[in-house]
Amino acid sequence: MLNIEMCGISFKNPVFLAAGVMGETGAALKRMAKNGAGAVCTKSLGLEKRSGHRNPTVVEVEGGFLNAMGLPNPGVKEYIRELEGIRDYLKRIDVKIIGSIYGKDPREFSEVAEILEPYVDLLELNISCPHAGGGYGAQIGQDPDLSHKVVSGVKDSVKIPVMVKLTPNVSDIKEIAVAVTEGGADAITAINTLGPGMVIDIRTGRPILGNKFGGMSGKAIKPIALRCVYEIYSVVDVPIVGVGGITTGHDVVEFMMAGATAVQVGTGVYYRGYDIFYKICKELEEYLTENNLKIKDILGKAHEF
Ligand code: DHB
Repeated sequence: MLNIEMCGISFKNPVFLAAGVMGETGAALKRMAKNGAGAVCTKSLGLEKRSGHRNPTVVEVEGGFLNAMGLPNPGVKEYIRELEGIRDYLKRIDVKIIGSIYGKDPREFSEVAEILEPYVDLLELNISCPHAGGGYGAQIGQDPDLSHKVVSGVKDSVKIPVMVKLTPNVSDIKEIAVAVTEGGADAITAINTLGPGMVIDIRTGRPILGNKFGGMSGKAIKPIALRCVYEIYSVVDVPIVGVGGITTGHDVVEFMMAGATAVQVGTGVYYRGYDIFYKICKELEEYLTENNLKIKDILGKAHEF
């Protein structure tokens, strides 16, 4: 009942693990897969290893979390070993793997994409980290021409589907959505973290995060994510993967009504535990059964008004 097709790939359900959460190791991805995710996404991977920002890298705030990890990862070549260890198992239980990648320019993105392609089912281009600096992340995703170049470069380099993850921190997300689609994006993931924001320790006056600023995730950003999905759906024909504050099956229904074919859950894992994927799928299924609906009946429904 919950199976979907997207970018020519079938998924047993539309509830995926988002990038950056429980994606540091193969063992963590396997755990999320065992807990019912339809697909799991790696931590964003780059060409070279990065140790990331100083601690603390995560702080809880009202309605969510701020994080500034600083793209820590062992480098794509080293990370591949994590995927080799879980690939067969994930295939057996029919959980797809999304490889999240970053780079500082179109060439670097394409190089990482080529290295990772044999080990994943889809790629997700992270052009939207709000605090990466150095030409990475949102510095790309806020520039339609550069976003277009990154996507078309990767599309020329690989055969598997390419999703592009957008930042909400732009004045017109529709413009970026159109640019990446014209660059050849097979799907759009929306949204990455909002902000950045900050928290200050009033005993000392010191900003809490090692990086001072961090991107906001969690329940409080859900209305913004939903509006972004709605706007993107109104201007492009590619599938949209909604992400931002999703914790329940009802949240998924809302995202589907805005235009999402599938969703990703990140911060929700902290709120409801590792088995959040099973819980959300059960709630979604109950909603559909009770209302005698199929997923295709609710996709984009909010645009009728
Ligand atoms: C990080 C944070 C993000 O929001 C993102 O998209 C990528 C990386 C990080 O701090 O590692």
